[in-house]
Amino acid sequence: MGAVETDSPASRTALGAARHRAVHQLLEGGVIFTDPLAVPVTGDDPAWLAARALEEADRRMRWFVCARSRYAEDTLARAVSAGVDQLVVLGAGLDTFAYRNPFRDLRVTELAHPATQAWKLECLAAADIAVPGSVRHVPVDFGRDRLADVLAASIDPSRPVLFWWLGVTPYLTAEAVRGTLTVLGSLPHVAVVLDHASPTSAETAEAQDWMRRRRERVAGLGEPWLSEFTAEEIPGLLRACGLDDVRVEDEGVLIRRLLGLPPSTSPRATHLALASTGWPTTGEGRAQRL
Ligand SMILES: C[S@@+](CC[C@H](N)C(=O)[O-])C[C@H]1O[C@@H](n2cnc3c(N)ncnc32)[C@H](O)[C@@H]1O
Repeated sequence: MGAVETDSPASRTALGAARHRAVHQLLEGGVIFTDPLAVPVTGDDPAWLAARALEEADRRMRWFVCARSRYAEDTLARAVSAGVDQLVVLGAGLDTFAYRNPFRDLRVTELAHPATQAWKLECLAAADIAVPGSVRHVPVDFGRDRLADVLAASIDPSRPVLFWWLGVTPYLTAEAVRGTLTVLGSLPHVAVVLDHASPTSAETAEAQDWMRRRRERVAGLGEPWLSEFTAEEIPGLLRACGLDDVRVEDEGVLIRRLLGLPPSTSPRATHLALASTGWPTTGEGRAQRL
């Protein structure tokens, strides 16, 4: 593993994503994504959290952040029922799954930027959230470290493993995204749930304006978006990296279904995908449903 900058600040966008999940519990009862640890891990006062999240723009992002976690956890549940017992959370931020993991045999490895990982451990301790023995914390910088070496030292790469890579690819260059996916795609039995930024040209003027403001905001936090992919580009990229079975998900359909809303007729880009290769097969030789 190469050198990592340990003096860089913890990720502010990780706190932002965690606050979206927390506010969702408070304002919407976790209807898209239920997470009883979402509020405590932020260390925030629930009344303050609920009051700061009433803007329409916040709501759009909140639903997306919750939908991608819901999709990831639903995919994990199916993988576990197919016998998978390794989950790697790439760029884990304040994700709380590992601390409420209901699956007895599932090992969870959180790979995270060193400063963010150290801060997360402080947040967990401050909230009295216990760290189970099934969790490993491994520091990594996707832009610098040799991920293959990190994985070889932290999981059994010869057996099936599910990766979550949520909210991270926009902060990496396209080259770094491709590099990471190439390592994942070289594993024999692997699936990855990931999201990505998309060019907004396919969306309404209102959505484009919202996205422009969002980009400006995260750049102002020192975490600019460095890559984006269209829903058409993503399958080609994933296949070129060795992940031959690719599904592009329309998170808008998922969100509206979970909220009990009718399907949308507005044009919009999608930002979520599931890709795998060599996934465990059923007795009939078909790949297990992911
Ligand atoms: C928006 S947060 C998402 C965190 C978490 N996955 C979630 O869904 O809440 C972005 C995450 O990307 C991580 N990240 C960004 N660039 C990184 C890099 N070069 N190496 C490792 N992690 C990185 C940050 O530390 C942060 O945790």
